[in-house]
Amino acid sequence: MQKKINKIAKDTSFFLKRFIKKQKKSELIIPMKYGLFPGGKKIRSKILIDIGSIFKIDYKSLIILGAAVECIHAYSLIHDDLPCMDNDSIRRGKPSAHIKFGESTAVLAGNSLLTMAFEILSHKDLNLSEKIKIKLINKISESSGHLGIAGGQYLDLSFEHKKISKKRIVEMEIKKTGKLFSFCCVAPLIIKKKPKKEIDKFENIGADIGLLFQVADDLIDNKGSLLVAGKKTGKDKIKGKATLISLLGYKNTIKYGNKLILKINNKIKKYGSRSKNLSETLEYILNRNK
Ligand code: IPE
Ligand code: IPE
Ligand code: MG
Ligand code: MG
Ligand code: MG
Repeated sequence: MQKKINKIAKDTSFFLKRFIKKQKKSELIIPMKYGLFPGGKKIRSKILIDIGSIFKIDYKSLIILGAAVECIHAYSLIHDDLPCMDNDSIRRGKPSAHIKFGESTAVLAGNSLLTMAFEILSHKDLNLSEKIKIKLINKISESSGHLGIAGGQYLDLSFEHKKISKKRIVEMEIKKTGKLFSFCCVAPLIIKKKPKKEIDKFENIGADIGLLFQVADDLIDNKGSLLVAGKKTGKDKIKGKATLISLLGYKNTIKYGNKLILKINNKIKKYGSRSKNLSETLEYILNRNK
């Protein structure tokens, strides 16, 4: 499992480094690269490869899609750490971007990473029809804006120090984290021109995988260590974050995660042995410690 993820991470980073190298130079390149490399687990790319292989999409296209997703993810982390958001000083085992480069540069490097995702998806190196590229860009935009990451981050911040219902917490976690996973799950079906009904099914599978991922992240904040996680832990409680742990407790949240895995596995079992990699990734997500 770790070997597979490492290969995907290496291939994604290689593509991104080459893509950036081919662009004209600017002062923001250094903080952008700082946010991208060395670059985290690349779990979203892994999900893209898992689902993409079910639908027989070529590996190279999936890596390019993964690179676009990782740009958006890196942007969201840079902004998430800002003093006006979670105010975190350590990310991926090093000083957060705004600590290293200052707030304004961090905001602008984040913006540039977000838009670079669209440059990647519209680039000629991605060997897909323009119609499909537009559909992919439409979907990834929706996943990032007010109905996705940005909207979810808004809810996350506005829920601090308040008693929030389970339904609203789940809605927040699906928006801030789940929607980008939904993109990873539906992109292969968009490429294969699958009917809307099937795409909607994978949209929901993605939301559940993202929810599972955020639940695991919340568990790590609760019990993990800085050394392993690469970011300060124990902060959600201090910041009064509304999480499933704050509502249900630690043990019940683990149970909730396991139920999610069962639910997702049930939905993908019709793909038989082709869904094995995805099932393994789900276990990895809940049982990881960083
Ligand atoms: C952290 O994401 C932020 C969340 C959405 C929970 P990751 O845990 O995927 O971060 P990296 O990319 O591995 O650093
Ligand atoms: C962040 O959630 C979700 C994003 C969309 C960036 P968290 O705030 O829990 O992520 P960490 O724990 O700082 O990585
Ligand atoms: Mg946050
Ligand atoms: Mg945070
Ligand atoms: Mg967290």
